[in-house]
Amino acid sequence: MCGILGYTGDRQASEILLAGLARLEYRGYDSAGIAVLKDGTVQVAKNKGRLKVLEEKTHGGRDIQGTCGIGHTRWATHGEPSDINAHPLWSDDMSVVAVHNGIVENYREIKNMLANHGYAFYSQTDTEAAVKLIDYFYKQSHNPLKAITEAIKVIEGSYCFVMLFKDFPGEVWGARKDLPLIAGQGKSESFLASDVSAILQDTRSVYYLDNMDIVQLKKGVVRFFDTEGYAKHKELSEVTWDAQAAEKGGFEHFMMKEIHEQARAVRDTFGSVFHSGKVDLSDSGLTDEVMKSVSQVYIVACGSAYHVGAAAQYIIEDLAKIPVRIEMASEFRYRNLPLDKNALAIIISQSGETADTLAAMRLARESGIKTLAIVNVVGSTIAREADNVFYTMAGPEIAVATTKAYSAQLIACYVIAMEFARVRRTITPTYYESLIGEIQALPEKIDEILDEKEKLEELAGRFVNARNAFYLGRNIDYAVAMEGSLKMKEISYLHSEAIAAGEMKHGPISLIERGMLVAGIMTQKNLALKIASNMLEAKSRGGFILMVAMRGCEALQEEADMVFTVPETDPHFAASLAVIPLQLLGYYVAVARKLDVDKPRNLAKSVTVE
Ligand code: AGP
Ligand code: GLU
Repeated sequence: MCGILGYTGDRQASEILLAGLARLEYRGYDSAGIAVLKDGTVQVAKNKGRLKVLEEKTHGGRDIQGTCGIGHTRWATHGEPSDINAHPLWSDDMSVVAVHNGIVENYREIKNMLANHGYAFYSQTDTEAAVKLIDYFYKQSHNPLKAITEAIKVIEGSYCFVMLFKDFPGEVWGARKDLPLIAGQGKSESFLASDVSAILQDTRSVYYLDNMDIVQLKKGVVRFFDTEGYAKHKELSEVTWDAQAAEKGGFEHFMMKEIHEQARAVRDTFGSVFHSGKVDLSDSGLTDEVMKSVSQVYIVACGSAYHVGAAAQYIIEDLAKIPVRIEMASEFRYRNLPLDKNALAIIISQSGETADTLAAMRLARESGIKTLAIVNVVGSTIAREADNVFYTMAGPEIAVATTKAYSAQLIACYVIAMEFARVRRTITPTYYESLIGEIQALPEKIDEILDEKEKLEELAGRFVNARNAFYLGRNIDYAVAMEGSLKMKEISYLHSEAIAAGEMKHGPISLIERGMLVAGIMTQKNLALKIASNMLEAKSRGGFILMVAMRGCEALQEEADMVFTVPETDPHFAASLAVIPLQLLGYYVAVARKLDVDKPRNLAKSVTVE
């Protein structure tokens, strides 16, 4: 889950590493560290806590001189966050110094084996076992490539290592399995990073490593090898993302900036498949023949991407009349579900690196099912391994809590649902055309909601000290409730639960206390009265009732403590609007609680462990 960097070139490595790590800190932030190789000596600075502690300690990196180094921001899996467990970790004579993302699953066996050869261990990490294993093989050959290829034959789990070998000045080595690593090529410098945002300031020319690739950096030279140590050729790609997009641009937090970028993300995502007045999904492998022949759809994802899938399930089933099964990737992968070979598996992931989602997608592929990945990060592992990709055009998303990627994923799902419906003739051509108009109108409506954000800021003030909240909805509104509730809990730490409104009376209602926030989502006219009754049940027990209603669907104006209205749209697309006030509410409660909105505790942007 962590952020990883490597640099070699003419400039001072520590400054580049610290700047790059600052852009990667959203990936992990319980510890930070760098190591720089100069004149046969490796200097290390690392500590528990945020990157700024490391910056202060090294005076912005000026205390550590040298032009070749590695860096890390950690998200601990083995061993508490501490100075000792922080990366880089090293072999006793500093021959091998490495940072690691992932988990070495067989670290106990490796440690036992190494202990028999006289190795001792100073940290609680799984990483140290791998570093010392590489050292063990290195001592036999004095060849970094050999040492790495030997070690990865033994190491089980998922990993990305970036390494320095003390006796190889100016060189940085990397290896990856299932976790992301890209290499950047400058004029007389080269880079390794967990994602492109870390090096965009310096270069736009990148190589995407394949799984199990090994990479060697020298000043301005990047070379690749396979697991047997044979050289591999790779094509250089140009990144088109705007470096500015990864800056805060005047907003206090990335999350608020990204909330405001949603209209653009929606417009661009739709624009990417809408040409000369027509939707065209052939780039995503969805030709008319494919859409006609698919027997059912599996949607597999985690977290917010799963919530998108939950909404998509209602939409695809209703518009296209195809059975849809939505699965959490972490469940899907271990369930032994009898899989239907004629199904289409839609995999949704912002990062394209989520471990569970990736594993679920591989499982679907191995079972002979066609996979379509809805992904935001170009060149990510899921994007590269899927049969087909639908890229969302959200641009780099930095805040850990997703907003604009979620909105862009919804658009991708709408378009897929509409196309299936068109091809299978389950909706009329006139209705199909009107849906296109509705999607095109969404960006303006999103901005209209943002114009009223102060109302939610005021409301948030009321819940600074709240302990619990409920989000209720039915149908698509239940999917929105899940997302709204997740936004609230992940950044404000206010415990919240999303409940399919009809289920509240089967248990959760016992938790309602005086003044507790109960948010009801009401965008589906046919269900408005049902949800109104459920909200009144909550009101009768003392709940503070917030209704987020679509214009024309409002009920409970009298009874609710607050009604927030969103503009009207086709009910299938209501999630795109109803989610906005809920994102804002979560944001403002977190700000009122003076929390680190962009980097909430215990979380990381890209969840690359199981
Ligand atoms: C969203 O706010 C979360 N932080 C998280 O649930 C996220 O959506 C999930 O981890 C999936 O990530 P992905 O889209 O990158 O696969
Ligand atoms: N498993 C390693 C550790 O706990 C790496 C964690 C990470 O990816 O940040 O130190």
